[in-house]
Parts: sequence; C-alpha cells; structure tokens
Amino acid sequence: MKSIKEINFKGRKALVRVDFNVPMDENKKITDDTRIRESLPTIEKLLSDGAAVILMAHFGRPKKGGFEPELTLQPVAEYLAKMLNRPVQFTQALLGEGKVEEMAKNLKAGEVMLLENIRFYPGETKGDVALAEQLSKLGDCYVNDAFGAAHREHSSTATIAKFFPNDKYFGLLMENEVVNLEKLMHNAPRPFTAIIGGSKVSSKIGILENLIDKVDNMIIIGGMRYTFTKAMGGKIGNSICEDDKMELALELMKKMDAHGVKYYLPVDSVIGDKFGNDANTQIVPSGEVPDGWESMDCGPESCKAIRDIIMSSKTILWNGPAGVFELSTFAKGTNEIAKSVAEACKQGCFAAVGGGDSVAAVKQMGLADQMSYVSTGGGAMLEYLEGKVLPGIKAIQD
Ligand code: 3PG
Repeated sequence: MKSIKEINFKGRKALVRVDFNVPMDENKKITDDTRIRESLPTIEKLLSDGAAVILMAHFGRPKKGGFEPELTLQPVAEYLAKMLNRPVQFTQALLGEGKVEEMAKNLKAGEVMLLENIRFYPGETKGDVALAEQLSKLGDCYVNDAFGAAHREHSSTATIAKFFPNDKYFGLLMENEVVNLEKLMHNAPRPFTAIIGGSKVSSKIGILENLIDKVDNMIIIGGMRYTFTKAMGGKIGNSICEDDKMELALELMKKMDAHGVKYYLPVDSVIGDKFGNDANTQIVPSGEVPDGWESMDCGPESCKAIRDIIMSSKTILWNGPAGVFELSTFAKGTNEIAKSVAEACKQGCFAAVGGGDSVAAVKQMGLADQMSYVSTGGGAMLEYLEGKVLPGIKAIQD
C-alpha cells in the first residue's frame, strides 16, 4: 500500500482529494463533521512535513454544469480553517479563469487551499481526462483520502492518478478504511457475525451474497426482513416488502444453509398502527402481523437473541438499522444492538459499523468511539463489501 506515512513531503505541493460531503442544515451549519475531522490527520501530516496542501472535494450533486451558490464549499472552508487553526484559502472562481491557478502557484509550505466544489465542472463525474490533467497541474503529487467517494470513477478521484504514476498515495483515512475492510473480508477472527439491515433486500443483495462464504452468522434485520418473513409464509400486515424479491430471499436462505451459515431473523416485532411516534404499538410474533398494522422494530425476544449472538462473536460487521430508529418509539431494537456491539468490543471483539443509518444510530447513542471502526463511506463501503473493485482505490494501486 502506498501510504503517506513513509514519505516526507517537505517542499511538495500535494493535491489531496477528500470527501467533505457533509450534512448541513438550512443555515449552512455543518450538522455532522466526522468526514472533515477524519481528514485532519492526513492534512496535518502533510503540513507538518512542510508541504503546501491543495484540497479537492465535492458537495452534493450539482446539476447545472457550473457554479451553484447553494452547493458552494465556502462554509466547509471556514469550518476547516477553525479546525486546522490556520487560514484556508478559498475562491468561488473555477479553473480556467486564472485565479485558482494563481492561488495554487503562490501557495507556500504550511498553507492550505480548498478548491470550489469539484462537481461544478461537468467533466468531473464523467472522469474527464482533460479536467484531470488541468487539476494535476496545480500540484506535484496526489493523495486520495476520499474513501466515501472511492466508488466513483471521477476525474479527481481516479483519472487524475494517471498523471502521477510515481507520486500517488493513499491518505491516512483511506488507508485505515482499506486496512479494516480487508481484515473483515480476508482475515476476520471467528465467529464472524454480519448484521445486515435497511429497508430493501434489493439494495443489500450484493453484500448478502458476497458475505455468505465469509461469515458464520447472518442476522437479517430492518425492513428487508419482512420480504424473508412473507416468503416463508408469514403474515406481515402492512410491513414493507418487495414481493418481487421473495424468490431471491428463499434462494439466499438456501445458499446460507448450504454454506453452513446460521441465519437469524427476528422472532418478534414491535408493530404500530401508523408511521409516527404517537402510533399505538403491540409486540407480536414476526409472522403474525395483523392487517392494518406495520412492523417497525425488533421485539424484546429478538433483541435478547441478537445480543447472545453478538456477545459470542469475535468479529461483527453491522450495516443497517433494526427498525425505524429515527422514530423514538421504534428505536429500541437498533439502540440495543448498538449497546451490545459496544459491549462486545470491550471484550475484544472487532466490530465495524458502516452505512448512513447505523452510523447515525451509534453516534446518536454516543457509542461511536466504542466501536473498533466506523466507516466514513456509505455507498463506498457497501460496494467494497459487495466485493467490487473501487476505482479510487484501484487508481492508486495500479
Ligand atoms: C457520499 O456522501 O456517500 C459520498 O460523498 C459520495 O457522494 P455521491 O453519492 O453523491 O457520489
């Protein structure tokens, strides 16, 4: 792995791709700064070596093919300056107008500059070579620390690497993600338990299939479990279900049986008569949800059984919540899993958490720092666990 750790960047001008695609409220206040904070070790390492740092990042999904005021990275530049405790040079000007090139040229050792939203260039998401070349001229080496965008084959995440055949590196965040994910995929202490949730089977097929020959236990939670329950002949009332994926659910169960994977579907459910915190609730066996009711969380028996599996595991991968955890009435199952995983970590279990909702859940519970590893990648982590080659990683390794 080409890590920045072994290199001294003194006197270099490092082009660093980061993922600053952070959530902001309507007043442009950053509501979760994890991705920025996790990028600091790389930026600080380069600065302390005596490099000048030019950061490239995207924000949202611009559509207009040019500057869009609501998607400017200006608030991120201001926030980053406070975190680094030094100015972050920023201009809303784009490449080709001269100003960006001038700023990059004059950037001195120990100084930081952030380019405006890289997706304001229409070529970025197409992996355009001309844009990559234009960007490459701003610096003299390339560091990719944007794990969250590593599944995108874009100019600043992948194409640009070919302009630095001998000077391209993983940043520390990226390196940490790859090391942890590789451990999960190829070197996980057993028993290995995957806890996979989320609303749709269709969005998790790839990960379920890829994990079958790697895990000992598969716990299937969240909305996707009702497709399995219905496929097995259970009554699920108004619970979310993909009827066209029921065959697939049965096939997946057969495959798990064939591989000796013990799979677990929650045996009881917290059901509500409407989607809201003020719903009337009941606890029923999972395959006996009455019409007019919707299952929205795991019940207490399931929480206990899941906890037992977690506590007997040496490796855990958790992706996807147990229920509608954003509604406090239906958050218990997810919160219980978070607590059990944190406890297992205290006993030496290696636990990785990824995916927007499960990460949000552990953060909401204040348990993120008790997990062995919390991924900064949503789609990127999912694709990695599906066994796909991520272009942002490949471009550095090639
Ligand atoms: C993310 O937020 O998952 C990454 O920044 C990638 O963003 P994208 O899905 O818009 O490419």
